[in-house]
Amino acid sequence: MKILVLNGPNMDRLDIRDSKMYGELSYGQLSELITTRAVELGFEPDIRQSNDEAEIIGWLHEASDSVTPVIFNAAAFTHYSYAIRDAVAMLKAPIIEVHLSNPMAREEFRHTSVISGVVVGSISGFGPHSYLLALEAMRNLLQK
Ligand code: DQA
Repeated sequence: MKILVLNGPNMDRLDIRDSKMYGELSYGQLSELITTRAVELGFEPDIRQSNDEAEIIGWLHEASDSVTPVIFNAAAFTHYSYAIRDAVAMLKAPIIEVHLSNPMAREEFRHTSVISGVVVGSISGFGPHSYLLALEAMRNLLQK
């Protein structure tokens, strides 16, 4: 079963972002970790990153049309993109929101997620492990 793992803006620069928030892995290393666990769980992962809101919305439309499950770190778009929220709301397969850091323990503008209300659930604050927990949660959801 295919799974789309989408990452929003600045996630491609994890190696130079604040390691106290985001850990030590580069985006490439994070992708490898996700791929290994996804394959172990029987998924065919398709991992993508974009700094462009329109491109992400296009990928969400694609996932809606192909009924593909999605694990989504919308990064800063999480906090204000109603266009991304509307695209998420159109998905037909389950979607899980993830964050490396715990946005609720950070600046006030990060306390709002405009997408939390249209996802199955959210996993935040466990670093790269957030994605691995989301993969396991997705496996369970799809087995039901
Ligand atoms: C993030 C949290 C967001 O607030 C931030 O803008 C990011 C990364 C996370 O994974 O912790 O870019 O989504």
